[in-house]
Amino acid sequence: MTADLWDKRFTQLWTTHIFERKLTAHAEHNASLAKLILALDADQNDMTVDYKGVDFLSRNEPGIIWLRETIDETLRRYLQACNITYPIRRDIQAWPNVNRLGDYHGPHNHGWSYLSGTYYVQLPEEKAATRPGEMHPAAITFSDPRYGAYQHSIAPDASASARQTFYPSPGTLLMWPSPLIHYVHPNHTDDIRISISFNVILEWSNDYAG
Ligand SMILES: [Fe+2]
Repeated sequence: MTADLWDKRFTQLWTTHIFERKLTAHAEHNASLAKLILALDADQNDMTVDYKGVDFLSRNEPGIIWLRETIDETLRRYLQACNITYPIRRDIQAWPNVNRLGDYHGPHNHGWSYLSGTYYVQLPEEKAATRPGEMHPAAITFSDPRYGAYQHSIAPDASASARQTFYPSPGTLLMWPSPLIHYVHPNHTDDIRISISFNVILEWSNDYAG
C-alpha cells in the first residue's frame, strides 16, 4: 500500500448547526406543562401567535424551572459544539404554542435573534412520512440558507437537498440559528400539538467581534 505523498486538510465551511436532543426526564414534566399551556390557551385569545413580550420561562412551576435549566444546558452544549469557549450575554424569550386541526406555520425565520428552538410537549401520533417532504403533523422542515447550493451538490451529501425535515417526538428539543427559514407542517389530525418555542437574544459583548 502506498503512503500518501501529500499533507491533507479537510475544512467544512458555512456549516449550519442544528441540535436535536431527546430529554430523558420529559415524562415527569410534560403532563403538567400540557395542562398549564392548555389552561393559558383557554384564558387568552391568540396565545400562539401573540408571542411578543411573553416571558413564559420566568414562571415558577417545577416543569418550567426544569425546562429553563435544560435550555440553558443545551445552549452551553450548542456553543461548545461551535467552539465558542467564552460566556455569552443573552436573554431567552419563550412562548407556548397550541396547534389544532388545520394549524400550521408557513416559511419564516426569527428576526433579531441569535438562536431559536422548540421543545415538544405533545404531538399527534402518526408514523413517519413515507417519503421526504411529505406533510406530517409532527414535522418541521428547514431550508438550505445558501440559495441554489443544492443544485451543485450530489447525493449522499446532505447539501444535495434544499430541505431537511425533522420528526420530533414528545421530549425532543431542537435548537438552530435564527436566520434559518423553516416551516411547521399542517396538523391534519384531531390531536393537539403543544410545543414551547424560544429565541436566544444576545446582549452585546466585545468577544463577538473576534
Ligand atoms: Fe419558527
